[in-house]
Amino acid sequence: MGYSVIIPAAGVGKRMKHHRNKLFIELQGQSILERTLNIFETHSLCDEIIIAVNKQDIHDIEQLRAQYTKIKPLVEGGVERQHSIYHALKHIENDIVMVHDAARPFVIHEQINMLYQSVVEGQHAVLGVRAKDTIKIVDEHKIIKSTLDRNSIYHIQTPQAFTKKVLTKAYDDAFSKGILGTDDASLVEQSGIAVAIIEGSDTNIKITTPIDIQLGELILQNMVKRNER
Ligand code: CTP
Ligand code: MG
Repeated sequence: MGYSVIIPAAGVGKRMKHHRNKLFIELQGQSILERTLNIFETHSLCDEIIIAVNKQDIHDIEQLRAQYTKIKPLVEGGVERQHSIYHALKHIENDIVMVHDAARPFVIHEQINMLYQSVVEGQHAVLGVRAKDTIKIVDEHKIIKSTLDRNSIYHIQTPQAFTKKVLTKAYDDAFSKGILGTDDASLVEQSGIAVAIIEGSDTNIKITTPIDIQLGELILQNMVKRNER
């Protein structure tokens, strides 16, 4: 038994300030979207890839699809990431589902394996990295109200891995109650189900602003060097 992966790719990349969806920006000759798709296409446990896409990108992503064997018919995205994933969830065939941002092209198979193993053993899980900076809560005038204990703060990444049953119920509940979460785990948490964190890595960045393109180039150079050793 393997897993299905939902790849939300239907954003517009506002913060990147590029003339089109940031996912088409190339890093060392290959687009961010292709790099992300390649990770799952080459992962043996991945059975199918469901991509949520924007209307304006359908043509280009449809052409890309011909080069892959695991990508199912494209699904139309929604207003928010949560809507895009909800649309895609209806097409999932596997009992285990991961959600992974198209904008994170550097996740590695070892980490996906750990998430998969966790769900197989009955524990829903997401990747996360421990906070390095001190995090504070402020009021509306930016006056600090309190300082959080850094040891219990994590930055959450994707993939996020669940059973289809639990994720579908969490999404159904969220939409019926009008809840908009910033990640998938938050919806599952709201339905009262425990989600664990598996240590991610600092290189699993989400390409969001222009500086991330330069960071991405560096990460790629290092990955290549490590493989040459
Ligand atoms: N996404 C999506 N549907 C949306 C919004 C976002 O499928 N309605 C996807 C993006 O394509 C991206 C992932 O969700 O792969 C994470 O979102 P983010 O990094 O915020 O990308 P954008 O929303 O495109 O960027 P921005 O917020 O700067 O506009
Ligand atoms: Mg966004």
